[in-house]
Amino acid sequence: MMVMSSGKRRIRIFDTTLRDGEQTPGVSLTVEDKVEIAKALDRLGVDVIEAGFPVVSEGELASVRAINRLGLTSQVCALSRVDVADVDSLISCDIKYAHLFIATSDLHLQYKLKLTKKQALETAVRGVEYARAHGIRVEFSAEDATRSDRVFLTQVLQAVENAGAERIDVPDTVGTMTPERFTELIRYIKSIVKIPISVHCHDDYGLAVSNSLAGVLAGADQAHCTINGLGERAGNASLEEFVMAATRLYNLEVGVDARLLYETSRLVARATRILVQPNKAIIGENAFGHESGIHTHGVLSMPATYEPMEPELVGARRRIQAGKHAGSHGITAQLKALGIEVSRDEVKRIVHRVKEIGDTGRTVTDADLDRIAREVIGLEKRNPYFKLTDLAVVTGINTVPTASVRLKVGDGQTITVSETGVGPVDAVLRAIQQVTDKFTKVTLREYRLEAITGGTNAEAEVLIKVEDDSGNVSSASSTGQDIVMASVDAMISGINEIMLRRSRSSQGAESNPPKLKVE
Ligand code: KIV
Ligand code: ZN
Repeated sequence: MMVMSSGKRRIRIFDTTLRDGEQTPGVSLTVEDKVEIAKALDRLGVDVIEAGFPVVSEGELASVRAINRLGLTSQVCALSRVDVADVDSLISCDIKYAHLFIATSDLHLQYKLKLTKKQALETAVRGVEYARAHGIRVEFSAEDATRSDRVFLTQVLQAVENAGAERIDVPDTVGTMTPERFTELIRYIKSIVKIPISVHCHDDYGLAVSNSLAGVLAGADQAHCTINGLGERAGNASLEEFVMAATRLYNLEVGVDARLLYETSRLVARATRILVQPNKAIIGENAFGHESGIHTHGVLSMPATYEPMEPELVGARRRIQAGKHAGSHGITAQLKALGIEVSRDEVKRIVHRVKEIGDTGRTVTDADLDRIAREVIGLEKRNPYFKLTDLAVVTGINTVPTASVRLKVGDGQTITVSETGVGPVDAVLRAIQQVTDKFTKVTLREYRLEAITGGTNAEAEVLIKVEDDSGNVSSASSTGQDIVMASVDAMISGINEIMLRRSRSSQGAESNPPKLKVE
């Protein structure tokens, strides 16, 4: 057991985003994606990065090789079955730390591997010995350990320990453990092997993090986790949740820099195209978001009233949302951030208008709030920073969707660019960003398209959320029958809101036009 100078027990984080996480149905990462994520995981400070399963494809092999050559501080590991061809693929990547596995449950032996217990045990031992003979350190997983016959599991674990494995991993492969049963199993395994123990929990019943915590409390010193809880089926234990619960609720220590959790999560979401659910603990958009009047009032007076930790601890930001549950404190604070001071009477009227929109079932965006407030207090419409003056989009068979846009910037200069995309909306949003990126880098965080009415001439609503590199987030929406135009309109409004926030936070007042970024 490793106890730190702080007196806390140190738990190792084995990140399997690039292996089990990539096994999320529909996810496939390029070598470049994997390298970028591996670098981010290294910055985050995970102890082990499971870079992939090299035998599955040429691309996977190239990714593992490339990651292994980066010279990262985190230990780079790769997955392998206990057979020679798999271990050889690790050797060809110069991998020094292997995650070797074979299933041990009757179910897997009978229906998947078609091996007797004796054959499985011998294969496991041979695989470990082969890897060890090639100088590779071995972490051994008994796949489906939690549904395996205890006597056989014991035999296999002791045999691979004797064959030279340096760590045993206990996978709850289909997530059927409970914290109580997993505690008992880990205590038992700890009593039969001398080497350290890892836990690898899946989230089929939503218990992956709880089971992982139970496992480390019972004596395991390493947890397998993935960013955003990605992984087979319902996923693996979420790294963000495990790290924050382990350190803040159980007084354990990890080597991870929690302040990088949010940005790492977003990087993985972008690369995998698996969006983080808004209500996901720790790194979801709503994890530090508040709408209801009672909560926003509480949080604005004292954040701890409705927040279990400061958002900055995980690199996130507090977000106040306007909507039908809103109250005057939250709306006043939101307007202040937009540079609009309101009287008590004005805020009442604004809140009333906000609730009216909320009651229709619509999301009240930042751009809506800005517009409502200006109407209520009789301020002129803002001069937009960016204004669309021309747009052409081409798409079709044998034609790469291409968009040309011309935007007028505050001081009157006009910029024209063309961009391609996977579709017309993608092309046009990319073209807009190409212009606005010259002033400030803005990333599209969320894009939602909903048909409000039926038929091919349906009214559609586009809702977008954009974020700049300082973490300013802004939402905007637009409705129309032409989804390209609605997307453009929402995007430009969102970016204009961001520009406004930036000028407010840098100067305390609105400034127009934005300054061209010096590269
Ligand atoms: O869930 C699992 O059992 C696995 C093994 C490969 C360890 O991912
Ligand atoms: Zn798994």
